[in-house]
Amino acid sequence: MEQTKFLLDESQLPRRWYNIVADMPNPPQSPLHPGTGEPIGPDDLAPLFPMALILQEVSEEAEIAIPDEILDIYSLWRPTPLYRAHRLEQAAGTKSRIFYKYEGVSPPGSHKPNTAVAQAYYNKKEGRTRLSTETGAGQWGSALAFACKLIGLECKVYMVRISYEQKPFRRSMIQLWGAEVVPSPSNDTESGRAILEEFPDTPGSLGMAISEAVEDAAQRDDTSYSLGSVLNHVLLHQTVIGQEAIAQMELAGAFPDVVIGCVGGGSNFAGLAFPFIREKIAGREIDVLACEPAACPTLTRGLFAYDFGDTSKLTPLVAMHTLGHDFVPAPIHAGGLRYHGVAPLISQLVQDGLIRAEAYVQSEVFAAAMLFANSEGIIPAPESSHAIHGALKAAREADEAGEQRTILFNLSGHGHFDMTAYDNYFAGKLEDVALDEEEMQRALRAIEGLPTPA
Ligand SMILES: Cc1ncc(COP(=O)(O)O)c(C=O)c1O
Repeated sequence: MEQTKFLLDESQLPRRWYNIVADMPNPPQSPLHPGTGEPIGPDDLAPLFPMALILQEVSEEAEIAIPDEILDIYSLWRPTPLYRAHRLEQAAGTKSRIFYKYEGVSPPGSHKPNTAVAQAYYNKKEGRTRLSTETGAGQWGSALAFACKLIGLECKVYMVRISYEQKPFRRSMIQLWGAEVVPSPSNDTESGRAILEEFPDTPGSLGMAISEAVEDAAQRDDTSYSLGSVLNHVLLHQTVIGQEAIAQMELAGAFPDVVIGCVGGGSNFAGLAFPFIREKIAGREIDVLACEPAACPTLTRGLFAYDFGDTSKLTPLVAMHTLGHDFVPAPIHAGGLRYHGVAPLISQLVQDGLIRAEAYVQSEVFAAAMLFANSEGIIPAPESSHAIHGALKAAREADEAGEQRTILFNLSGHGHFDMTAYDNYFAGKLEDVALDEEEMQRALRAIEGLPTPA
């Protein structure tokens, strides 16, 4: 019998986060002040974030030590398992070997607590007592509520309205861990009220919820803003995933030819991929593939440009692939992938040819999720299922080329609270929305006149 699970001992939990900025061929471009257009410095970010996180955001050190208090909480679920997907390989009839790293074993059910715990820790250490945040699918909101409960902070979550309605149990989880949750746009902030006045029936978007959470934090001394993806320090915290995966692939006597993750803001993808891209920059041949929804094709069709991270233009301007800050993606079930931008670090690496991207429609993603659930047993989150589809497609392409490849993907979370999405799939109610070219050109007009990256 061939081995299925590759497990590390608690003592093998990575002790450092990996900062890819130290190795990038071209460093990311500086964020710009939304008012002056000048590069921003640590002081500009101080009203929103604790200094330890700001310093991580701008750090060029290759490795940053993980404090013991964070390792202590990580040890509740880390190291996470790496699986060889024997049954999926059989079901797909491929000659390639497929491995997956499973982040759904964390208490909230995804990779998100890897950064939630770190962010709550540094905020508490610097005397903040409350965090505000947005959430799309509810995975991030529940992860931050969990982290705040364990560390002892209050938490307010602005949850994208469509997810608030589609995922009542994610909302309950957020409440169970003691946080306040409201549908976004809400009447609790000026940005929310302004959006509601103009678009009373909007399904909401991550861009809108970010505006509300940023405004909340900017107006209170006791509150910091916490973002679940996109920023450099968030991607940094996720690199425990890839570091563990490298050690586990070694246990399996293998190294991936292809590394795959789904991309919303980019944190789970970066968490798995960055430690492998370190090897790629050092000369190893690895195909690194980012998978996104065709309804929100940021990397495959968006522009690399300076844009705001939120709808109401409260955040700094960052150089990233974007569909425009007022773009509202169609309400697909992968709520965590409905974001108009993507992490600047990932965008730069795409520009430099170290990462490639593909976009998929919902029905093919759910078909892959079904094949996975019916062979491996785990019910995947709709977001993660984009990576499953990417892996199956890569395996099919290898078979067609007469090659056997080793494929590794990140299964970023389970889908236990996404059963409405599966019900809609069974009922044939999922719409295959690919972003309309006209709507894309309209949305991109929002960035006309903003600075262009060098
Ligand atoms: C399970 C899961 N995977 C992936 C994502 C996408 O986020 P990111 O690109 O930051 O990993 C989310 C976001 O909510 C998620 O819940």
